[in-house]
Amino acid sequence: METNDKPGVKKYLANKARYDSMTYKRSGKSGVLLSALSIGLWHNFGFVDDIENSRDILRTAFDLGITHFDLANNYGPPPGSAETNFGTIFKQDFKLYRDELFIATKAGYDMWSGPYGNFGSRKYLISSLDQSLKRMGLDYVDIFYHHRPDPDTPLEETMGALADIVRQGKALYAGISNYGPEDTQKAATMLKDLNVPFILNQVKYSMFDRWVEDGLLDTLDDTGLGCIAFSPLAQGMLTDRYLKGIPKNSRAGNDSIFLNADTVNTNIKKIQSLNTIAVKRGQKLSQMAIAWILRQKQVASVLVGASSSNQLKDNVKALDCLDFSEEELIIIDEIIR
Ligand SMILES: NC(=O)c1ccc[n+]([C@@H]2O[C@H](COP(=O)([O-])OP(=O)(O)OC[C@H]3O[C@@H](n4cnc5c(N)ncnc54)[C@H](OP(=O)(O)O)[C@@H]3O)[C@@H](O)[C@H]2O)c1
Repeated sequence: METNDKPGVKKYLANKARYDSMTYKRSGKSGVLLSALSIGLWHNFGFVDDIENSRDILRTAFDLGITHFDLANNYGPPPGSAETNFGTIFKQDFKLYRDELFIATKAGYDMWSGPYGNFGSRKYLISSLDQSLKRMGLDYVDIFYHHRPDPDTPLEETMGALADIVRQGKALYAGISNYGPEDTQKAATMLKDLNVPFILNQVKYSMFDRWVEDGLLDTLDDTGLGCIAFSPLAQGMLTDRYLKGIPKNSRAGNDSIFLNADTVNTNIKKIQSLNTIAVKRGQKLSQMAIAWILRQKQVASVLVGASSSNQLKDNVKALDCLDFSEEELIIIDEIIR
């Protein structure tokens, strides 16, 4: 058996048909096309996880035509470890395919102690990206995001740091995440004045969290930015994961600080009703939840997480049935209202 650097790891050669069935969507008015589904490394890629499972998820993603891998400085746990593991897998499996990948990282949340390890100062963003590049073994990322708005740092400073990062060639494009309409508009104006390619706002959007419909999607239209929707499956609730209780190996079953059994139980009736509609459409709930987001024209990509490659294979099948009847949309609205 041929091996990579790691003994026993089968050499990876990407599926030759990887571009045949994936859809690619333009990010706003930019030149960038993203796979309609992207893979996020927030969970299941840290030192606490099995790296061979992480590798399997990334190989499967790329084989399915998913070109966009989303990271952040703090993903793990521990923080930084998802980037380190990604760096290991990238070196062994994906180096050959660097120009076929669109790799993201971010800074904004707590990363190291002291006054320079979070939020939006120039000091934090520039040093954080330097650390991320080292951990991932990359010369540059395709997009670098400011991960969350900073109420105290002037937006000019944060956007100025993004501009310099792009000029230094450490990122090809700039992005923001979790920014509301007003700050998105301001950021877009500043970065346009600075002549910086600014292409995406990465925001939480699912059937269970529709805040972006309240003005942000219009702002993205006005500014020519694309939307990439994170936690589209409400961290697993919009799937069949919890239909028969809370599995021990699930996010809610693991006492995650991000999703707990109470939240699942509060939503279970809605989940069951949505599942009934999905089944009538001949889809899984996860596939319907992804299709429901992709119908928004501003959405360039739906950024899913997965704890197994089979989940990802399932999710990509959302592309087989993207259309909704008026009646279906009305019923869904009634359930999730
Ligand atoms: N910018 C930000 O502030 C921000 C914040 C959060 C996330 N993100 C990005 O968005 C990405 C996705 O977030 P997320 O993980 O919350 O997304 P998600 O897609 O809503 O949830 C992913 C989880 O859903 C379950 N799942 C996925 N497919 C399934 C299927 N077919 N059947 C059954 N269960 C399935 C798995 O949970 P189990 O583990 O229980 O199997 C999986 O870990 C992150 O990795 C990150 O890149 C960004």
